[in-house]
Amino acid sequence: EVTQAFTHGLPKAELHLHIEGTLEPDLKLKLAQRNHVDIGQHTIEEVQKAYQYDDLASFLAVYYPAMNVLQHEQDFYDLAFAYLQRAAANNVRHVEIFFDPQAHTSRGIPFKTVIDGLYRATVDARALNVDAQLILCFLRDFSKESARQTLAAALPYKDKFIGIGLDSDEHNNPPMKFARQYEDAAAAGLHLTAHCDIDQKDSIEHIRQALEQLDVERLDHGTNIVEDPDLVQLVARKGIGLTSCPLSNSFVSPEMKGKEVLDLLAQHVKVSINSDDPAYFGGYIGDNYYALADKFNLTKAQVVQLARNSFETSWISATQKALYL
Ligand code: HPA
Ligand code: ZN
Repeated sequence: EVTQAFTHGLPKAELHLHIEGTLEPDLKLKLAQRNHVDIGQHTIEEVQKAYQYDDLASFLAVYYPAMNVLQHEQDFYDLAFAYLQRAAANNVRHVEIFFDPQAHTSRGIPFKTVIDGLYRATVDARALNVDAQLILCFLRDFSKESARQTLAAALPYKDKFIGIGLDSDEHNNPPMKFARQYEDAAAAGLHLTAHCDIDQKDSIEHIRQALEQLDVERLDHGTNIVEDPDLVQLVARKGIGLTSCPLSNSFVSPEMKGKEVLDLLAQHVKVSINSDDPAYFGGYIGDNYYALADKFNLTKAQVVQLARNSFETSWISATQKALYL
């Protein structure tokens, strides 16, 4: 039987985690006070009462405004280090952390401030026995030109992040919109992933574009792929990772895409379990494993396979991988 002690203690990699989504109510209030930013809420209860969403758009409407409390390099450090301590407590040995530079540069915060603070926390995480890397995400509802400028501003810091991703509002923002940025990032030696959120209007078409036009190595969420057996065969054959996030999914889809995850596991697709935005969706990665295992009666072997998939589809070196597998 799979217990919380088992899911939390299992060594794992986290591959789908937005650092801005780890901003807990207490840190949000502390930073609001420290930076004299009025967020309209003054207690943890008031902050939590504002956490009402039932789809991607209503979530993002709560999520982005809260980032105003992040102003200085130290704020980004504090945010990331608090998450990394939680990761260590969940026995996360390796994490690839998304950050959204445009959510900060668009409010006047320099790219350097953001990446310096986040990166410094990843260096200090080595003392926690957590290997942490960064992935730059483009906001897909911003223009191509904004993505181009963001990549140009980021490339001088190329030694501080390992890949690019695509997040925010997927509706009418297909992967193809960013084909040029993905090509340029690949040429710069960066790894590639992209969100294909669950139950989007053009889910399958977006998954196809991400795989065929952007040439991604992973799909974030992406579990709607089960609707297209040919695409499932393709990701199985190429060893493409799918990063599923059960508690995040539960806000949109009561079954948390559990049947799809089990279906993909049975077809030897490298699907993994992750926490997405844990401060907003009710749990860190161990809780995500447990929620899925509990609801769908997963065996220990299935849970272990999910954790193995997380290391196998991570962007660590083959020698480093061998230590975990
Ligand atoms: N999808 C799209 N945008 C996001 C997500 C997500 O899961 N999490 C944070 N921003
Ligand atoms: Zn996400």
